[in-house]
This record gives sequence, C-alpha cells and structure tokens, in this order.
Amino acid sequence: MRHLRVPKRQTQSILECINGYEWAPEWSRVISDGEYRLLPLGDNSPSQLPESLSDFEVVQAEQPERPPQHWLEHLPKFLDEQTITLHDGVWPNAQEPLGDILVFKIERQIEEFSQAVALAKISHHKTVRAVFRDHGVTGEFRIRDLQPLAARLDGEILDKNAIESLADVTRENLLVTKMLVREFGVQIQIDPQLAFFSPRLQGERVRNVEAAKKLREMLGRPLNIADPYCGVGPAIVHLLQVDDLVGDLLASDLNGDAIPLLVENLSRNGIKVEASQIDGLTTLADGNFVGIQDALELKNDERFTGQFDMLLVNLPHDTMNHLPHLLSLLKRDSPTLVRGWLVTPENEISRLQNELQNLLTPTLEGQQMVEITPRRQYSSSDWLCRFEAWLNFPLE
Ligand SMILES: C[S@@+](CC[C@H](N)C(=O)[O-])C[C@H]1O[C@@H](n2cnc3c(N)ncnc32)[C@H](O)[C@@H]1O
Repeated sequence: MRHLRVPKRQTQSILECINGYEWAPEWSRVISDGEYRLLPLGDNSPSQLPESLSDFEVVQAEQPERPPQHWLEHLPKFLDEQTITLHDGVWPNAQEPLGDILVFKIERQIEEFSQAVALAKISHHKTVRAVFRDHGVTGEFRIRDLQPLAARLDGEILDKNAIESLADVTRENLLVTKMLVREFGVQIQIDPQLAFFSPRLQGERVRNVEAAKKLREMLGRPLNIADPYCGVGPAIVHLLQVDDLVGDLLASDLNGDAIPLLVENLSRNGIKVEASQIDGLTTLADGNFVGIQDALELKNDERFTGQFDMLLVNLPHDTMNHLPHLLSLLKRDSPTLVRGWLVTPENEISRLQNELQNLLTPTLEGQQMVEITPRRQYSSSDWLCRFEAWLNFPLE
C-alpha cells in the first residue's frame, strides 16, 4: 500500500489532513521508520496527491493485518461459515460485562452453538477471565443461572470440558462470581449467583441520587431512606456517595445470601456494620436498620411507621401488590418521595398509571401526579418501567 513518509513531529497534523479526504482509508496503522512515520494513503488515494500532501515522499509498505473489531470475527475459528451465515442476525451481540466475567444470553434456535459463541467472545475480549451463558434469573430472589462455557487460565483459553477437568480449587477460583464491579466511579461487591444485581439499572441509581438531592433541598436535612428490596445495596451505595444526603437507612432483603454482600457494601461506605451482628432485621448503634426481612411485614413493626422520607420499591414483577403495604413507612405532613419500578406489557401502562394515581395521593403541591415512564424493553412482550411519586400525606 502507498504510504506518505512524514517527519515524526508532523504525524498528527498530516494524519488529520489525510483523514479529511473522502478517499482516506477506513482503518490503518501508522508505521514507524526511524525519525519518520509512514502514514497509509489507502487503496483509493489519487495518484496525484493534493498540494497539502505533495511535499512528502510516497513509499510502498505493508500494513499489518487488521485485528478483529468484533467478537463475531472470531466465530469462524470455532464454527463453519455455512452455519454462521445460516443464522446471520441471530448471533448474540448483547452481553453483560460483570467485573472481569462476561455473561450472554442466546436464542433457543442457536443454543447448540453456545460453546462456540463463548469461545469467540473470550477470544475477542482479552481481559475477560470467564464467559458464562446466562439462563436468566430464577426464583423470588432473582438469582442468575450461569453456565460456565469458556475461561482464560495463564493466557490459555479453555472450553467447558477443559474447565471441568481442572482440579477443584483451580476451577472454583477461575469461575468465582463474587467480585467488585465499578459503575460511575462507585464500587459494588456482587455475586450474581447469590443475589440479584443488574448493571442495566445503573442509570436508575444515578437518578435516585438526583431525586434525593431535590428532596433534601426541600427538607433542608439528610433523608431517612428505606430500600426494602435492596439486594446487595447498589442503590444505597450510590446515595451514600453524597455527603449528608442519607440520614437513617432501612436496608433489607428477604434473601439471606445478599446480606454479607450488602454489609460489605455498607461498611465500605461509612456505615458501621458487621455480618456477625445481623440477626433478622437488626437495629445498628447509629440508628440504621439492616438485615433480612420480608418487606410485606415491615408495616407491622412500629419502629418504621412514619419514619421515612424516601422509599425505593424495586420488585418489578410484584410492585403493584407490595406497594400498598409499604406506604405506612412514609412520614406524614412532610414531603416524601417514592421511586419504583415495574414490569408490564405496554397496553397495561395506562391502567396501572390510574391505579398508582389512586394509591399515591395526595401529590405534593407544585409536583405532577405520578406517571409511569417506560425505560427499556424487558422481553418480547413487556417493558421495564419507572415511576416517581412526590407526596405529602396528611397527619392521621
Ligand atoms: C429486582 S431485585 C432488586 C435488588 C436491588 N434493589 C438492586 O437494584 O440490585 C428484587 C430484590 O427483592 C428481593 N425480594 C423478593 N421478595 C422480597 C420480599 N418479599 N421482601 C423483601 N425482599 C424481597 C429479592 O431477593 C431481590 O434482591
């Protein structure tokens, strides 16, 4: 390929100049040549170069092979071209990175090729430790059913059989799913095989913080916040990043396996708590409540009645049934805020919105009545939606 030989210090400006022409190569690599650099002109460059480039010598040089840009480009190493073409458009592009593992879902019609897909994905993502097929969340605790299909050990890629033949300790270490993940600069300890966690909700967590700051401005003090379906506590971790935003906390979940992870996430963020202290729903020395609890039972505990300024309701498949049982937690005669999520077919949204408007009333003066906002498609039929209700319940 033709290259332009330019002095090192002019590399950037001449590269920008080349890239400004429509004939510029789509992909190229600058080649080092002593005190000079060779800038590729591509196959479509004119034989007579524009004046701005005509001062430099044109030389012939070989470009290195272009590295694959997408995991699919690795698939031919593991599957024949005919099969790949037959299922064009069905191969799973979506995948979730969780720390240094990758999880992906695959359509039933191509599930027999899951092994090849996992190997292609791990070949492409060079820093990934293990790749799992995600069979979805199971049970009331929404725990992921993850099947290990590929892993990287000392730089070597292993398939499912090779993983299975490893010594137990090596295999367990390689496939460990307890890990620290980062989102928006915040660290969260998770284990998707023990407790629910979804990186897709990180935008919602950021919005929780924005809404909480608005409520704090109204009240002029830190907020008492209840997150009775907190899982490992990702929403709380985000809220705890802001000084003086959180006053007293209720952080509980029915899944006992979530609690050690929750405790780690809280103690890392300034809440003094140890896993050995937790017995059911435990009152900590600083007045926070942390532990295992069925959210439906909270209304029967007087410690919580009328105590909270902000309530998070993240049980999307059951929110409408649970919500009426939680409203007694909110303060009376004071601005309060409910943020909740639900999963519903699109044609049910307006009916559910009416139901919410009847339940979440009276609206705080100057605020809109509660509205349901679709956030993203959850399945072929359902949407994950969010609502935010600004309230001011009268004294009873
Ligand atoms: C969709 S997850 C949300 C978890 C967490 N808020 C998050 O964003 O990662 C729902 C959580 O509710 C918990 N859960 C299910 N039924 C419950 C109940 N009756 N009371 C309290 N928690 C419950 C599950 O264990 C799970 O952690």
